[in-house]
Amino acid sequence: MPASLSEPRVGVWLIGARGSVATTVIAGCAAVTAGLHAPTGMVTETDLFADCGLPALPSLVFGGHDTVDCPLPKRAEALVAGGVLPHGLPSAITAELEAADREIRPGGPAPGDTREPTELVDAFTTDIRDFARRCGLARAVVVNVASTEPTPVGIASREHAPTETASLECGHGWAASVAPARGGTALPPSSLYAAAALRAGCPYVNFTPSTGLHHPALASLAESSGLPYAGRDGKTGQTLLRSVLGPMFAQRALAVRAWSGTNLLGGGDGAALADPAAAAAKNAGKERVLADTLGTAPEGETHIDDVPVLGDWKTAWDHIAFDGFLGTRMILQTTWQGCDSALAAPLILDLARLTARAHEAGLTGPLTELGFYFKDPVGEGPAALGEQYEALAGFAARLRGLSREVR
Ligand SMILES: NC(=O)c1ccc[n+]([C@@H]2O[C@H](COP(=O)([O-])OP(=O)(O)OC[C@H]3O[C@@H](n4cnc5c(N)ncnc54)[C@H](O)[C@@H]3O)[C@@H](O)[C@H]2O)c1
Repeated sequence: MPASLSEPRVGVWLIGARGSVATTVIAGCAAVTAGLHAPTGMVTETDLFADCGLPALPSLVFGGHDTVDCPLPKRAEALVAGGVLPHGLPSAITAELEAADREIRPGGPAPGDTREPTELVDAFTTDIRDFARRCGLARAVVVNVASTEPTPVGIASREHAPTETASLECGHGWAASVAPARGGTALPPSSLYAAAALRAGCPYVNFTPSTGLHHPALASLAESSGLPYAGRDGKTGQTLLRSVLGPMFAQRALAVRAWSGTNLLGGGDGAALADPAAAAAKNAGKERVLADTLGTAPEGETHIDDVPVLGDWKTAWDHIAFDGFLGTRMILQTTWQGCDSALAAPLILDLARLTARAHEAGLTGPLTELGFYFKDPVGEGPAALGEQYEALAGFAARLRGLSREVR
């Protein structure tokens, strides 16, 4: 299905553009566009989103930032060797991989980078704006799929913490929000990229547990930007299952006594999450869905172990101890074996299309109805997958009803 000549081109700017997830997104979009594979796992390709005016897959143009320089075709070959991408795919879509590779710019801060936060935001903003101009894009969305950062101390998990720097404007006042506060620390890189996205006039999606727009110093910028945004942390495996099983126990009035989980994975994500500070945000999201769906946090912890030989293939075990009638003790155990990038990529294509369409239709602020996709959704919304799907259906209906005005 080639893009029609009149179809506006939509940019997808990936932070972490040379990573496993990003490479699978770019390769997957090319493979589906070329008719080589079905769009399995893409909710936006189901009847739910018929006639919603979403940008067609062939209209998506990819670029992004990364701190490594491994060419995308080579990265794609490594994913073939790891069993993530099908054999023969990179050679069938070399032109698309090379085109995206040409649109990737050095991110930051690189080791030894002495640039101030404001200089980094300036550089990132310029890169995104240049991408939109060079490629003749109607709009671009920025999606964070970079390595998970350690959680900065003092950042509340769900809401923007109160802040004294919250009166910053999207215009020239933005600089104060990314400069290190007196006696404080600089914003993490994910927040610098988020600020750059908004400055460049782009909707922002945070597919990782990193802080991103979730920093108190960016609350006002997010509000005044008039842009839609969504996050955090894609819900692709263990938490997806938890958001179905948690409501099941609650609705059947079964008493969950303990819920424990362990994850084994390798790849770049496994290595990043071997840092307990990086794993903390991820595990908090996984545990929160239990408290939200069960009404109380059960006993038990969630762990992530880095097992490099597993690469992108994750095994997630859950062990759930629950009580039945007359206090009868029972156990449910689940084993999820998934290919992380193959689970994440279709969701990122969905989110890019949905936020681009939301922007086109003039929607602003947190896209709460996209909670279906996230472990720690922005705004106040349901935590059970069934209810989140209903909210997503409502969003589809809303998009369908909105005129296709071009901003
Ligand atoms: N795959 C899933 O199912 C899933 C689900 C939820 C969240 N995520 C998140 O998606 C992210 C990507 O996962 P992955 O498997 O692709 O990891 P990866 O290690 O393969 O890729 C991450 C990329 O980010 C780049 N990067 C690191 N710091 C950067 C910076 N400051 N600026 C620009 N680029 C930077 C790295 O060089 C690397 O290329 C992780 O944060 C992961 O937690 C993945």
